[in-house]
Amino acid sequence: MQTAEKEPGQAEIFKSGDRLLDFDLSEELNHGIAVSNLAYAVAAELGQDEEFCYQMAIAGMLHDIGKLKLTDYINGQENDPLLIEELKYVRMHSSLGYEELKDQGYSELVLQSVLYHHENYDGSGYPSNLRGDSIPLGARILRVCDVYAALSSDRPYRKAFDVSTVIELMIDEIKNFDMEVFLAFQRVVHNNK
Ligand SMILES: [Fe+2]
Repeated sequence: MQTAEKEPGQAEIFKSGDRLLDFDLSEELNHGIAVSNLAYAVAAELGQDEEFCYQMAIAGMLHDIGKLKLTDYINGQENDPLLIEELKYVRMHSSLGYEELKDQGYSELVLQSVLYHHENYDGSGYPSNLRGDSIPLGARILRVCDVYAALSSDRPYRKAFDVSTVIELMIDEIKNFDMEVFLAFQRVVHNNK
């Protein structure tokens, strides 16, 4: 029987995050909100209908939900694992997020967007090395919005970059992005200035 006096889930997250992943719940939520808003706006800029845009807002909020599951995998590991091991686990988060959401009634658009949000347009991403338009459109939108939101916010190890620097950094990595999505994203960012 559950009791209401404790919040073990939250305590568990912070404990696990402190050990390895540097998982900060409020930071993750703020990132989710930023990606959600951007993904909605970019989808609208691309001419998608209201339902698609709404689903993209959900996908943006939930895209990194698999990171919560990662703490379960990493619990029980040594305190100081090799970095490569950590990276291997971190790369599981998109598949873990998909697994977590697929029995909860989310649309196929949300599920596919979450699963493939780290696929790169040139085929160098994960988990499936999908390339070009074989990457679902929702995932191509999240890829752009995710990188932008990450670079334009403060991180524990660096300050946020300003908008023009973020755009320059993204152009350096343009191989990762769908150009049509990237141009729509640029219009959204410039209109919000
Ligand atoms: Fe992610």
